[in-house]
Amino acid sequence: MLIVSKIVDLERELARIRGKQPIGFVPTMGALHAGHLSLIKQSLENKCFTVCSIFVNPTQFNDKGDLDRYPRTPELDISLLKSTGCELLFMPEAEEVYPKGTPVPSFDLGYMETILEGAFRPGHFKGVAQVVNRLFELVRPDQAFFGRKDFQQLMIIRQLVKMTGRPVKIIAGETVREADGLAMSSRNRLLSIEQRSKVGIIYKTLLTAGKLAKEHSIAAASAFVESEINGIQAFRLEYFEIREAETLLIPTHARAGNIALIAMFVGKIRLIDNITID
Ligand code: PAJ
Repeated sequence: MLIVSKIVDLERELARIRGKQPIGFVPTMGALHAGHLSLIKQSLENKCFTVCSIFVNPTQFNDKGDLDRYPRTPELDISLLKSTGCELLFMPEAEEVYPKGTPVPSFDLGYMETILEGAFRPGHFKGVAQVVNRLFELVRPDQAFFGRKDFQQLMIIRQLVKMTGRPVKIIAGETVREADGLAMSSRNRLLSIEQRSKVGIIYKTLLTAGKLAKEHSIAAASAFVESEINGIQAFRLEYFEIREAETLLIPTHARAGNIALIAMFVGKIRLIDNITID
């Protein structure tokens, strides 16, 4: 695996491949886990020359403390990527991604950035769209892979691609979970042992709430989630919502195919998850 930090080196390597083999791209913020690696594997299975980027993008952090706390494990990331078969790793500095004097476009993402994560993390999706657009501009991938774990982000990326007309196919990866159901996340490393032993309840609560919503009502499901999550010391629910999968609009009644989404705090650590109601 070749590791580059400069755009000139990235472009030189990609020029050797472009036109001969499709380029598959997995953007990440590092602190890699099996969820990230499943996206790399999907790209390799699609016979793509596989590029991963690691860049903790400051413009998508609305909370400075969250940015400072964000885990950084570059050595481990490199060895995981090598063992998975990733071919090129792009690890730029901020000046490379956002060169001084070059204006950064601000995308109007409309309704999508006003709800759920967008409502609780103002500016977050503008930052995500900015960095992904910039990385797409540099890598010019044929295929790019994003996890359903960040369901709203996946929708935002699809919208971004439509808006910019980039010829890249967006491919979604299933959420990879720990044995107790916890969705893998870089932020999980920040949990104490005690907190970690309790967070398996998030996925179980989502599964039960999904059933409750479909068989009884969305209100019953919401009340259940609130009492389950807020009933645990240091846990605080931010939102639980049922949404239409295609539009993220609120359905009048929950049905199969809807998405149940949750965001919550465990102490200072913010976790999100979602399931598709079956
Ligand atoms: P990051 O949180 O590092 O995630 C990188 C990619 O891995 C995203 O597409 C995310 O949805 C996916 N992912 C995370 N956890 C997963 C899991 N448990 N199962 C499957 N996929 C999972 O998302 C970002 O970085 C950033 O916002 C980024 C898109 C890189 C822009 O900065």
